[in-house]
Amino acid sequence: MRRADRRPVAGAQGRRGPSRRGLLRITFSWLLWLGFAALGAVAGLWAAATARFLFPNALKEPPQRFKVGFPADYPPAHVESRFKDEHGVWVVHGTYRGQAQIYALSSVCTHLGCITIWQEEQKRFKCPCHGSAFYMDGINYEGPAPRPLERYAIRIADDGQLEVDKSRTYQEELGQWHDPDSYVPT
Ligand code: FES
Repeated sequence: MRRADRRPVAGAQGRRGPSRRGLLRITFSWLLWLGFAALGAVAGLWAAATARFLFPNALKEPPQRFKVGFPADYPPAHVESRFKDEHGVWVVHGTYRGQAQIYALSSVCTHLGCITIWQEEQKRFKCPCHGSAFYMDGINYEGPAPRPLERYAIRIADDGQLEVDKSRTYQEELGQWHDPDSYVPT
């Protein structure tokens, strides 16, 4: 065979596709872009988590003040459960130290914060977590709860309805249930 026949044909290398170095460069570029994309995603998630921490459920939280109907809607010895799920409140027409009152009790157990349930037959609030029990007036008498349920402020609004204000709480063990803002006499 003559020497001239063994020479590479012009352009043959170009048709074999990218060189190994070219492939490495492309792979590296893709990895770089993937890295930037992942970094961006993490930064976005972090920003969203920070915003949620700074403005927690600002639009979803139920209002602190809300109307619960007229005093006449509450017969004596009645516990109203309608406001428990949305507001975490029992509205009760009961007695405290012999005085008939309407008051708003927190549904949160004073042991470790579980949500109490009302047991109509036993006329008591019961905590399903560790068994604490509270009389209708909110005083604890059984289980590990160290103190009574808390009261929220309640008053008669201008339209004659009862209005609960969860921004103010009253604790029996501190003598705060004597505060006239913690009940409506009946
Ligand atoms: S949280 Fe209610 S008894 Fe423990």
